[in-house]
Amino acid sequence: MSKVHILDHPLIQHKLTYIRDKRTGTKEFRELVDEVSTLMAYEITRGMPLKEVKVETPVAPATCHVISGKKVGVIPILRAGLGMVDGILKLIPAAKVGHIGLYRDPDTHEPVEYYAKLPSDIEERELIVTDPMLATGGSAAAAIHMLKEKGAHNVKLMCIIAAPEGIERVQKQHPDVEIFVAAVDEKLNEKCYIVPGLGDAGDRLFGTK
Ligand code: URA
Repeated sequence: MSKVHILDHPLIQHKLTYIRDKRTGTKEFRELVDEVSTLMAYEITRGMPLKEVKVETPVAPATCHVISGKKVGVIPILRAGLGMVDGILKLIPAAKVGHIGLYRDPDTHEPVEYYAKLPSDIEERELIVTDPMLATGGSAAAAIHMLKEKGAHNVKLMCIIAAPEGIERVQKQHPDVEIFVAAVDEKLNEKCYIVPGLGDAGDRLFGTK
């Protein structure tokens, strides 16, 4: 069973409150999602391996550490996942970015891929799939499945708010994928919105309706 990390850092929880608030406008919403993504990236990279290096300080030789050769890929699920990318890149500027677009088939209700552009070496990379809202889990599970089919074997999922249903689906289909969230909410409503959630993350990020 994949592990769920609920990132309860006070700064993340504080900013999440304003993200949820319906009075928060597009500009501030975008900035807050960006900031929360940076803070979440700090937590998600906690386990990265280090290697020793020697440097000369102005005073003396020192044995220090740098991150050891783990290459990262950030994979936003279009469109709302885009809002989390820049915040992550602030901490991991050398990461490559791939994009996955999915739509829901009106008959089967299953996600169908309409766009995918990925780094050529995803099998060597630690991939962070981003989507602010893990609702039914259908899109996230399908995106991860597609990445694995193309050779990925090290995938983490980063969402801001999750519903229990979404977590369960990803855990069932991808027990190897660790899930990082700022909050797990109560449930989905009949329109598959997370309750209480924050509304439509894509619309709030991009100012659409
Ligand atoms: N996607 C959203 O943007 N919001 C939800 O509540 C669920 C899915």
